Amino acid sequence: FGALRSRRKCLGFVLLLQVFSRRRVSGTETPSRRLKSFTVSDLISKIQTAYVETLEELSWMDSPSKEKAREKAMAIKEHIGYPDHILQESSQKLDQEYAHLNFSEEHYFENILENLQSEAQKSLKKLREPVDPDLWIIGAAVVNAFYSPNRNQIVFPAGILQPPFFSKHQHQALNFGGIGMVIGHEITHGFDDNGRNFDKDGNMLNWWSNYSADHFKEQSQCMVQQYGNFIWNLAGGQNVSGISTLGENIADNGGVRQAYKAYLKWVETEGEEPQLPGLDMDHKQLFFLNFAQVWCGAYRPEYASQSIKTDSHSPLEYRVLGSLQNFEAFSEAFQCPIGSPMNPEQKCRVW
Ligand SMILES: *[C@@H]1O[C@H](CO)[C@@H](O)[C@H](O)[C@H]1NC(C)=O
Ligand SMILES: *[C@@H]1O[C@H](CO)[C@@H](O)[C@H](O)[C@H]1NC(C)=O
Ligand SMILES: *[C@@H]1O[C@H](CO)[C@@H](O)[C@H](O)[C@H]1NC(C)=O
Ligand SMILES: [Zn+2]
Repeated sequence: FGALRSRRKCLGFVLLLQVFSRRRVSGTETPSRRLKSFTVSDLISKIQTAYVETLEELSWMDSPSKEKAREKAMAIKEHIGYPDHILQESSQKLDQEYAHLNFSEEHYFENILENLQSEAQKSLKKLREPVDPDLWIIGAAVVNAFYSPNRNQIVFPAGILQPPFFSKHQHQALNFGGIGMVIGHEITHGFDDNGRNFDKDGNMLNWWSNYSADHFKEQSQCMVQQYGNFIWNLAGGQNVSGISTLGENIADNGGVRQAYKAYLKWVETEGEEPQLPGLDMDHKQLFFLNFAQVWCGAYRPEYASQSIKTDSHSPLEYRVLGSLQNFEAFSEAFQCPIGSPMNPEQKCRVW
C-alpha cells in the first residue's frame, strides 16, 4: 500500500519485527480486537463485489478473461488484524518465532544482525516447503497493507485499522474513502502489471487471452504517460517514473473507484448519512476528502531524491492528483469544469 518509510529507524525496526509478543496485544478488549471482527471482513466482501461488478464496464477485456478475473478476485484470501495464536496463553508457534533470537538490551546494532540472521534462516528454510497459507507476512502493528501475488492474499494488520483509515465512530464515507480504498488498492494489485501474471491459486500462469493482454498494455500505457509527466519539485524537478510506479498507480486508480462504487451502494441500502457539523461538504465530497487525507505526509528533499529513484509508489501528492484526475465521479462531486487540471479530457483507466 505505502512505502515502508521508517525501515531504518528504531521504531520502524521494531514494527517490522514480527511484533507478536503477548504483552502487546493481550489484556482486555483492545481496539484491534474489536475491529478484527466481521466489520472489516464485511467491507472486504463489499469491495470484492464492486471490483467484479466494475469488470462489466470494461470494453478492453473479453468475456473469457473477465470470467477468469472474477474467479481470481473471489478467490482472494484475507488476513485481518493479527494471527489468533498470539492471544493463546501458551503458544508454541509464538515461542518458535522468537526461539532463535538472542536480543540484548544494550546492543542495538547486534540486535539488528540477530534479526537479519534469523529472518534469513527462516526464509531459506521455506525453500521447497509447501506454502503455508496461515503464515503472517508482516507484524500486527504496521500501518500498511499488502497483497501477496503468490498466495493471492490480502493483509490488513491491526495497525492500519484505525482513524483516519477506519473507525466504528466515523462516517462510512470516511471509512470507504479510507480503508475501503486501501482494500480496493490491494485487490487491484492482483490485476496490475505484475499481479496479473499469477492465477487464483498464486501460481505463475497466463490466464489472459491475447486480446485482453494486448489491451491491458494499451490501457496501462496511458498511466505511464500521465504519471511520467508529473514533475516533483522537491526532488530537484525530476519526473516521476511512470514505468516503475505503474503497478501502484493501477492499484490506486482501481482502489478509489471500487471503494466509491461500494460506498454508493451502501448509501442506497442504508440511507444517506447526516452532514458533519461545521463542514459544508456532502458525503461524496467527504469520501474524497478522506481519500486524500490518508495520503498526507512530508518528505525531506534528500528523501524525495532517493525515493523518486527507488520507491515503487508515486509521491504522495501525485497518488491523490493522478487517480482523481482520472475519476469522473470526483469532478462531479466538486464540479470541476471539463478541461481544468482535475478534470482533463483525456482520462486513463485500467480497472
Ligand atoms: C547472546 O548475545 C550476547 C551478546 O549480545 C552474547 O554474549 C551471548 O553469548 C549470546 N548467547 C547466545 C546463546 O548466543
Ligand atoms: C497469442 O500470442 C502468442 C504470442 O504472441 C502466440 O504464440 C499465440 O499463437 C497467440 N494465440 C492466439 C490464439 O492468437
Ligand atoms: C517530464 O514532464 C514534462 C511535463 O510535465 C514533459 O514535458 C517531459 O517530457 C517529461 N520528461 C520525461 C523524461 O518524461
Ligand atoms: Zn500497493
